[in-house]
Amino acid sequence: MIGHIFWMDSSEGENGDELLHVTYGTNAHDETQVDDSQICVVMVGLPARGKSLIAQKIVRYLKWLSINAKSFNVGSYRRADTPQPNAEFFNTGNTEGERMRRAAAEAAVSDMLKWFGEGGHVAILDATNSTKARRTWIKGQCDAKGYECLFVESRCDDPDLVLSNVLSVKTSSPDYVGQDPEDAVKDFMARIRNYEKVYQSIGDEEQVTFVKLINVGSQVVINAVQNYLQTRIIYFTMNLHITPRSIWLSRHGESQYNVEGKIGGDADLSVRGYAYAQALPELVAKSVGDAEITLWTSTMKRTIQTAHHLKYPKKQWKALDELDAGVCDGLTYEEIEEKYPVDFRARDDDKYNYRYHGGESYRDVVTRLEPIIMEMERGENIMVVTHQAVLRCIYAYFMNVPQDQSPWMEIPLHTVIKLTPRAYGTQEERFKADIPAVSTFRAKYASANMGAGSEEATENSGAPTEAPAQVDGVADAATTEAKDAIIASAVAANDVAKERGIEVNGDMLVTE
Ligand code: SIN
Repeated sequence: MIGHIFWMDSSEGENGDELLHVTYGTNAHDETQVDDSQICVVMVGLPARGKSLIAQKIVRYLKWLSINAKSFNVGSYRRADTPQPNAEFFNTGNTEGERMRRAAAEAAVSDMLKWFGEGGHVAILDATNSTKARRTWIKGQCDAKGYECLFVESRCDDPDLVLSNVLSVKTSSPDYVGQDPEDAVKDFMARIRNYEKVYQSIGDEEQVTFVKLINVGSQVVINAVQNYLQTRIIYFTMNLHITPRSIWLSRHGESQYNVEGKIGGDADLSVRGYAYAQALPELVAKSVGDAEITLWTSTMKRTIQTAHHLKYPKKQWKALDELDAGVCDGLTYEEIEEKYPVDFRARDDDKYNYRYHGGESYRDVVTRLEPIIMEMERGENIMVVTHQAVLRCIYAYFMNVPQDQSPWMEIPLHTVIKLTPRAYGTQEERFKADIPAVSTFRAKYASANMGAGSEEATENSGAPTEAPAQVDGVADAATTEAKDAIIASAVAANDVAKERGIEVNGDMLVTE
């Protein structure tokens, strides 16, 4: 059971006075327990209905929210004895096949119950679970131990959707590795027909908690939801779709604060930041082509200025604003180390959970990003121009990066990252603009004093730092020559920086 506590600690203030920090929270740093329930999410549906994809996404989403979740895939247990069965194995008249499939289900459920006993919160039982008898047995096993069951049925009678799933399975399922693709498709269709002979959709008479996703969410039927965690899982599954799309991520261009090595604030872009903003339409067009996209920024000047020349429908989100550095807003890392040495070290010890006094932690940012992630799941092509900490959290969601690593990830400045969700994982491409920027990246336990020549140099690498007085005017009215001059100055700065041993362009990072 997780309790609620006050944390109290102190550090030296600006004038040598002691600052007392009181934080209210839970004593669970590595896990956010939304309630005490332990839930078995039982997937239901014929093969090729996207069940494994939904199962993986639920696990990724819950883990990102610090809820301990794990998928138990019955097919993987079955493969231990029968790695590549043909369709006949799944014929209900095949008693040996039936016995082995039952044994695989029992092994998965047994491991799942053990995992619950060790404190797991949400298990996904990823299998067809296509008969009422099988579901009744699973529910009985869970009821006996006091674990809840939430059935998630994916029904799909759209032949095109099924075919596209079948085609993706033939290329990605270990059941068909090394086999002729056409034979694999034929066998898989025959397997589906065998399942169809016995498939029973969940009926009301089963009196269970369920959500039925019909034709990938075009219709949703929900029954007997019991608590908040179940509601969250159901709401998440309702927002999933499988329309092919991509997500583009970019940090804002280099800001004046970046140049000065300061964190936080609401500074304008530097000259090189403006050059990036000007280069962005061409860079984005390379990978977007004619696709329709929606552009999201934070409410801060540097992201709005960066997106200025992109001619897509735009939306500003407060939730995309940078991690709030509280009392450290506007300070350099050197100043933070000097004024708050205990905090400086504590943040390195546990950067994900460390909350700036009067500000936020990465964990807090994830919490406020949940609606953004939900909208990203619901939406189609979206480009997000935001800040480093926020991008780390969004990237960690899509790429399944563990919490202890996500705050230390390298998300280069002046680079567009394209993420394309696929059936089994997310594909990533990066597009770099040839425009240099300073780096304020600090590796764990590195000194705050990042002089030129170090990997984490903060120094201005030679470019002029004043922003033009008329920001939009300069950007809009810039002649080709003026733009070229800005970019030439940025490229020259790049060369200077290289001479001084500072890494530039996409290899550098600015941590805010
Ligand atoms: C499998 O053996 O591939 C899955 C068994 C099932 O879920 O029916």
